[in-house]
Amino acid sequence: MEIESLLKEKRIFYPSNKIIENSNIKKFMDKHGISSYDELLKKAKDLEWFWNEMAKEVGIEWFKEPEKILEWNPPHAKWFVGAKYNIVYDAVDKQFKLRKNKLAYIWEGEPGEVRKITYGELYKEVNKLANALKEFGISKGDRVTIWLPMIPELPIAMLACAKIGAIHSVVFSGFSEKALLERIKDAESRILITADGYYRGGNIVELKNRADMILKDAHSIEKVIVYRRCDNQIKMKEGRDYWWDEIVAEQPKRCKTEIMDSNDTLFILYTSGTTGKPKGVIHVHGGYAVGVASTLKFIFDIKEEDVWWCTADIGWITGHSYTVYAPLILGATSVMYEGAPLYPKPDRWWEIIEKYDVSILYTAPTAIRMFMRLGEEWVKKHDLSSLRLLGTVGEPINPEAWIWYYKYVGNERCPIMDTWWQTETGMQMISPLPITPLKPGSATKPFPGIEADVFDSNGNSLYGKDIGGNLIIKSPWPAMLKGLWRAEERYIKTYWSTFKDVYFTGDAARIDKEGYFWIQGRLDDVLNVAGHRIGNAEVESALISHPAVSEAAVVGKPHEVKGEVIVAFVVLKEGYTPSEQLKEELREHIAKEIGKIARPDEIYFVDDLPKTRSGKIMRRVCRAIVLNQPLGDISTLANPEAVEIVKRAIE
Ligand code: WT7
Repeated sequence: MEIESLLKEKRIFYPSNKIIENSNIKKFMDKHGISSYDELLKKAKDLEWFWNEMAKEVGIEWFKEPEKILEWNPPHAKWFVGAKYNIVYDAVDKQFKLRKNKLAYIWEGEPGEVRKITYGELYKEVNKLANALKEFGISKGDRVTIWLPMIPELPIAMLACAKIGAIHSVVFSGFSEKALLERIKDAESRILITADGYYRGGNIVELKNRADMILKDAHSIEKVIVYRRCDNQIKMKEGRDYWWDEIVAEQPKRCKTEIMDSNDTLFILYTSGTTGKPKGVIHVHGGYAVGVASTLKFIFDIKEEDVWWCTADIGWITGHSYTVYAPLILGATSVMYEGAPLYPKPDRWWEIIEKYDVSILYTAPTAIRMFMRLGEEWVKKHDLSSLRLLGTVGEPINPEAWIWYYKYVGNERCPIMDTWWQTETGMQMISPLPITPLKPGSATKPFPGIEADVFDSNGNSLYGKDIGGNLIIKSPWPAMLKGLWRAEERYIKTYWSTFKDVYFTGDAARIDKEGYFWIQGRLDDVLNVAGHRIGNAEVESALISHPAVSEAAVVGKPHEVKGEVIVAFVVLKEGYTPSEQLKEELREHIAKEIGKIARPDEIYFVDDLPKTRSGKIMRRVCRAIVLNQPLGDISTLANPEAVEIVKRAIE
């Protein structure tokens, strides 16, 4: 059975000639005598040629050249085989020589202080911490857990680990200490790097005091390094806890960069799966460097003078790849902001863009919908003419939010790069290039060198058929996960067992007649109503396209006759009041947008929905409430109070 796709978006937006002519990808095409987008995609099917060219394009400097570009023994791929490398050489050491006085980061704390960090300073700070780690006995292969907020010390700590060959495991600062403990235990980290606290929404969020609650159970931890951010009262345990500033004070400002194998582990990053236990996704030095830097260069078109702002927290893969490693490898300047987006007022982001002349903005659909709900007045207060390109990631963007972003943030001038990828893919996989005609709500086409397709349950291609199915990747890519930390069986089962030698993404998608990909949401979040499979995200998108709706979560509820019926939780925009009439209007709206089959049986108006700290609505929690089942792990919820709100709504 195929996933029914009923929501069709027809508008097309063409990039301007100016954008096309000045783009990095156009220059690459000209250099290789490639005259069209289609030809580019075709030429890149020679994977070894293409990715080796990409490595050159982003200036990768191997200590020893690779003997072979790709070795593919499904389900394990090795890229740049035999090469000696360390990602920190390209991200920091080399930049110290090339761009010593250029800004690597412009950082703003929530209270308003600003720190501008040059590549020269970054080099020195990374080396000092790396030397301190060595003094604590840390060396190649050791794990270090980092629980830091959005302050420059977070990239510094990651780079210091990588420089000496240690493996970092960053835990998002918004996670609970229980989530931290679980990840420390799984990775058996010897060191924890954290801070006293950080600012969020005008308050201090304590980190060290909370870490203290679990450290007695974290037996592998030998030392804790604490960065002083808020000067809030904390306890330091003699012989275990050390202040960052004190241990780096006397360290030399140079440190040898460990010579690694291209396929040695760079980091572990935990991500949730269908089970309660998080998966430790492993990425390596060489292929990951090539994958993230080349996508940033050619999708987001980074040039020397750009100011890049990826708003994601570094605790997620988006921040790892596109706030830390990729922009540094390209020698770019990035903005980093510590706090809440609406603090002290809803125009904080727009103020930052205006103040630092941000030229490329990369954010999430949930943020766009939030700003949309607040009204465009806040955006219009600021001069955003520095912007040239926009981007989104994390979930399908509903066409209404796309258009709002295009119109009010980009002033109808900036193409939007809707990038589909995952923690596991490490790099952007399906996305427009600046030369691609855009269809709002579609991530368009695979990046050159990425062979994505949609398969039905028997493994037949549904390419161009506009029928929903399983989104898969047919051949390896350079930033492909190396595996799951100490969970080889789960690696094989999760990604490689659905179809033979083909990577299974867990997402549903359809590919239209022009080869455009439309992501329909996770396959584990697909409804089956009277024999029709409908993507939850499609119903949500339809709801959001109604002028009264700000956010929506849609779940299935078993039904004797229909198999499943749809239950929708809806957050209304300011100025709209819940009523039976409005419910009926929404049902009719969905019938119009998608078809009668997708009309929810039940609609509940709520003030908030359960969300992760990255803003993703936790449908799973809504479903558990509707089905009256255990809620499962809710330690990653950003707003636990939303559980009660949803419960009360259905009572
Ligand atoms: C899942 C991966 C990759 C960084 C952020 C999330 C969904 C991601 C898109 C997009 C539709 C998207 C998919 C994917 N997703 N980007 N542009 N359009 N869906 O990383 O936590 O590993 O989540 O996010 O469902 O599988 P993640």
